[in-house]
Amino acid sequence: MKQFISLFLILFLIISCKKSETPLANKTPKHGLITKNAMVVSARVEASKIGSDIIKKGGNAFDAMAATQLALAVAYPVAGNIGGGGFMVYRKADGEIGAIDFREKAPLAATKDMYLDEAENVIPEKSTLGVMAVGVPGSVAGVFAVHEKFGSLPIEDIIKPSIDLAMQGVIVTKKQARGLKYYQPLFLKANKDSIFLNKLWKENDTIKYPALAKTLTRIMKNGKEEFYKGETAKILVKFIQDNGGIITMEDLAKYEAKWRTPITFTYDDLKIISMSPPSSGGICLAQIMKMIEPYNLDEFGHNSIKTIQVITEAERRAYADRSFYLGDPDFVNIPGEDLISENYLKDRMRTFSFEKPTLSSEISYGDVQVIESNETTHYSIVDQLGNSVSVTTTINGGYGSKLYCSELGFFLNNEMDDFSSKPGVPNMFGVTGGEANSILPEKRMLSSMTPTIIEKSGELFMTLGTPGGSTIITSVMQTILNVHEFDMTMQEAVNAPRFHHQWLPDEIRMEPNAFDSDLIKRLKKLGYFINESNSSIIGKVDGIMVLQDKALEGGADYRGDDTAVGF
Ligand code: GLY
Repeated sequence: MKQFISLFLILFLIISCKKSETPLANKTPKHGLITKNAMVVSARVEASKIGSDIIKKGGNAFDAMAATQLALAVAYPVAGNIGGGGFMVYRKADGEIGAIDFREKAPLAATKDMYLDEAENVIPEKSTLGVMAVGVPGSVAGVFAVHEKFGSLPIEDIIKPSIDLAMQGVIVTKKQARGLKYYQPLFLKANKDSIFLNKLWKENDTIKYPALAKTLTRIMKNGKEEFYKGETAKILVKFIQDNGGIITMEDLAKYEAKWRTPITFTYDDLKIISMSPPSSGGICLAQIMKMIEPYNLDEFGHNSIKTIQVITEAERRAYADRSFYLGDPDFVNIPGEDLISENYLKDRMRTFSFEKPTLSSEISYGDVQVIESNETTHYSIVDQLGNSVSVTTTINGGYGSKLYCSELGFFLNNEMDDFSSKPGVPNMFGVTGGEANSILPEKRMLSSMTPTIIEKSGELFMTLGTPGGSTIITSVMQTILNVHEFDMTMQEAVNAPRFHHQWLPDEIRMEPNAFDSDLIKRLKKLGYFINESNSSIIGKVDGIMVLQDKALEGGADYRGDDTAVGF
């Protein structure tokens, strides 16, 4: 009998250990950094610390936004920038919400066919590598607009730490060293000289940025005008034109950041506030979440076959609409209300069945009765007053156009590739676009950036976002669902494996070696095309969640060097 009991106990222990290894929900919760007052989560510890210190000094989330944006331009040149653009969604402690668009725009001399050859074929690399890929940068205008409207500390206090960091230098991490090696051939193709050409930087090297420190010092003294009309503008335009580019002083002088009304929608008891066009982020996020809301994902289980099917089919339909309807709202009529209306989205899912996939070839954009018709970075901030900001900023590809202005010390974006160079031809993220996103002078290119803030019961609940090109929207959505449907902590939600579908190509991209092979076999058997071979991660989410006791939990994505800093 004793022997029998021992055997039973051993078996029970084996079974219960095995069980606790499978679903994430059964594991001990893994929390990110928890602080009481304020927090900044960004792609580099140096930037998070500079932002957090600004708040500690008495600044608010908006001061910290300006400081973190500039610190990332120094510490994280792969995507942090003053040579690119971005979007910020905010929610003030009193509940006021809003958004600012500091997206790049097409130069005045841009034309619809500028990336096509005589036979109307897209010229390889013209919209991605070198000077013709560059859009008029918006980041400096964004920083100053945010600071002027909401900032509380003097601009000197905000810019000085980044100048000091640029002079002191930034230590190369292992991941950065790997990236610099990967991009070296492209740096050589796009530049005559640059600090990234003359030397292959290795892990633990320190890169100093004296030219960038000088540029930032002039901006600190002369304000936004320095970048758009002053000496910096003149140097930048001369550099661009000497390299054969088309951006002029007039382009820079005319650039303005724009305050926008964010997209808001509900999902169960959450109110979700996200970026409006010219980002597709908010509208697509709303479409996907409203399409999946009627299904009981919590019962299906996290990353279960049924959950993956429902999400994939909603994504497929939303990205088909994205490619047809979305573009710069100052140039095209976007049926925004219709695209996110419950009736329309219910109708879009009418053809969904658990039996087999809807092929993308059978899906087009929906009929909304129109009367007329990687690599980016994200940071999230909450201050001690309860103000929150969610900012995604980019120079588009890793190191943008790869074109580095040595005299000014920064990389220029290749954001022009986010336009549709030719209808139906995919851009670097594989997304296709149509007339709504065609190139016109001064038009802003469509984005997928999805800086998002969430309220629960009228209170701040979460702020989050991610890089990842077209995968941004679906990464943000999965992170929200991980918390809301699957009870994960902020850090667990960020860590969990991700998948992505964007209508075309008709495939579910899955993070490699992260999903159960049996699950993949079953999806294939149902008729889904699975792409695990692209060995890249999907997204790099940085978020902050307000816990029940009002403390803040940071989720800094392990996929990068991302770090939460707070107090
Ligand atoms: N450049 C990536 C995006 O804006 O979606």
